[in-house]
Amino acid sequence: MPGYLVDDTRKVTTHRLKEMKAEGKKIAMLTSYDFTTAKIVDEAGVDMILIGDSASNVMAGNMTTLPITLDQMIYHARSVARAVKRALVVCDMPFGTYQIDEKEAVRNAIRIMKETGCDAVKLEGGVEIIEGVKRILDAGIPVVGHLGLTPQSINKFGTYAVRAKEDAEAEKLLSDVKLLAEVGCCAVVLEKIPAALCQKAVESVDIPIIGIGAGPADGQVLVVDDMLGKNNGFSPKFLRRYADLHTIMTDAIGAYVADVKTGDFPNANESY
Ligand code: KIV
Repeated sequence: MPGYLVDDTRKVTTHRLKEMKAEGKKIAMLTSYDFTTAKIVDEAGVDMILIGDSASNVMAGNMTTLPITLDQMIYHARSVARAVKRALVVCDMPFGTYQIDEKEAVRNAIRIMKETGCDAVKLEGGVEIIEGVKRILDAGIPVVGHLGLTPQSINKFGTYAVRAKEDAEAEKLLSDVKLLAEVGCCAVVLEKIPAALCQKAVESVDIPIIGIGAGPADGQVLVVDDMLGKNNGFSPKFLRRYADLHTIMTDAIGAYVADVKTGDFPNANESY
């Protein structure tokens, strides 16, 4: 597979994720929501690609992740999976598709797997949703957990502040991480928690812990549009920007507008 910026071009599997943790190899994960971006992300060597329900914010402009539907997630996930050759592709189960009961959870996870070509699903929560997680795993579907700041519960939290700073919440988080690992999840995302707590989680299980705003872990995940600097209005402390696409795109589009207005575009070479 020419073009990959990594030496190891084997398809990343759940088995490989565990090996990477055991070998001390860090895992790079990014979101993608469309074919063209996913192809670039995969070819650049990202190990795991997440069709995050952050598509609700990033693609649709909603304030939260709650409004996005299963059909909309499936549309994005199918576009991404079609583009990806190497990375393990994970699709978020959106709000309301796994919290009602375990039958509904497994039915919706099966829909995602059948209709998208993704490799795994991701669910937010620990012990409260464990029966659904088990049923999905029993159906042969890999599951990634997500704890800490779980955006589908933002109305309950009432704030996007760092989670699990107090002992009781930290203890519950560690017990949830262990439970998710015990039942067979292939990785857990920990969002916006103290770095010391994330380190304890890393040491307590043999599956990869992927951090976002959680300090060093077995791997890291960011929203691709944020790390590319498309949205210059969002700058949490944990976000490192690797490009300023907002400026690059605004300048390029401004230049196009000017060329159209002056009649410079199209010229003779650009006409039939
Ligand atoms: O939806 C999302 O993009 C996510 C990541 C931020 C982990 O869940």
